[in-house]
Amino acid sequence: MSGHDTLLSHDYDGIKEYDNNLPLWWLGLFWLTIFFSAGYVLYYHYGPGPSAEQVLALQVEIAEKERLARMPQTAEPASVEQALLKLASNTEALAAGKQVYDTRCLACHAAQGQGLVGPNLTDDFWIHGGKITDVKRIVEEGVLAKGMLAWKALLSERELDSVVAYIWSLHGSNPPNPKAPEGAHVPR
Ligand code: HEC
Repeated sequence: MSGHDTLLSHDYDGIKEYDNNLPLWWLGLFWLTIFFSAGYVLYYHYGPGPSAEQVLALQVEIAEKERLARMPQTAEPASVEQALLKLASNTEALAAGKQVYDTRCLACHAAQGQGLVGPNLTDDFWIHGGKITDVKRIVEEGVLAKGMLAWKALLSERELDSVVAYIWSLHGSNPPNPKAPEGAHVPR
C-alpha cells in the first residue's frame, strides 16, 4: 500500500484497518448489482418477464408434449375391439388364424367360411351380433345347444384372437355356394 495510508484508531484483537477509498473495480461491481436488481424488479415484477409459475407451466407443457410424442409406440390399443381390428389387418395373425380355422372350424363353417352346419361367416348377417367383439365372445363361449363349441377351453388366447381376426377378414369375400343368411342384418 502507498505511504499515505492512515490507520483508523480502532483495534479488533490486534487487527487494525486503513481508512482507504474502496477500489474502483469493487465500487463498479457494487453499482452494477444495484442497477441489475432495479432492472430485474422492473422486468420480472412489473414488466413482461415470466413469473416462476408461468415458467413452470411452460416446462410442464413441454414435458407433456414429449410424453405424448412417445406414446404411440408403447401405448396399448384403447380397447379390446381396436386390438382385434388391428389384428385383422396383420398378415401374420391372419395366417395363424387361417391355420386354426382350417383345423378346427372348417368342418362346420366350410373351407371359405360360406357355412355348412354352422352359419355363413362372410356375409352381413349375424345371429349373435356383428361386432368383432361379438364374434370373439361367441367363439370363446360357443352355442353348445347348436353344436358350436366353447373354444376358450380348447385354444390359447393367441389362437382365439387370430381366428377371430381371420373370420373378420373373410367378410365380403363372396365364396361360392354360400349358406342362406341367418340372423340379423348388420352391415359393416
Ligand atoms: C361342430 C360344428 C362347429 C364347429 C367345429 C365350429 N362351429 Fe362355429 N358355429 C356352429 C353353429 C351350428 C353355429 C350357429 C349357432 C347358433 O345358431 O346360435 C356357429 C356359430 C358361430 C359363430 C357365430 C355366427 C353368428 O352368426 O353369430 C361364429 C363367429 C363361429 N361359429 C365361429 C367358429 C369358429 C372360429 C370355429 C373354430 C374355432 C367354429 N365356429 C367351429 C358350428 C360349429
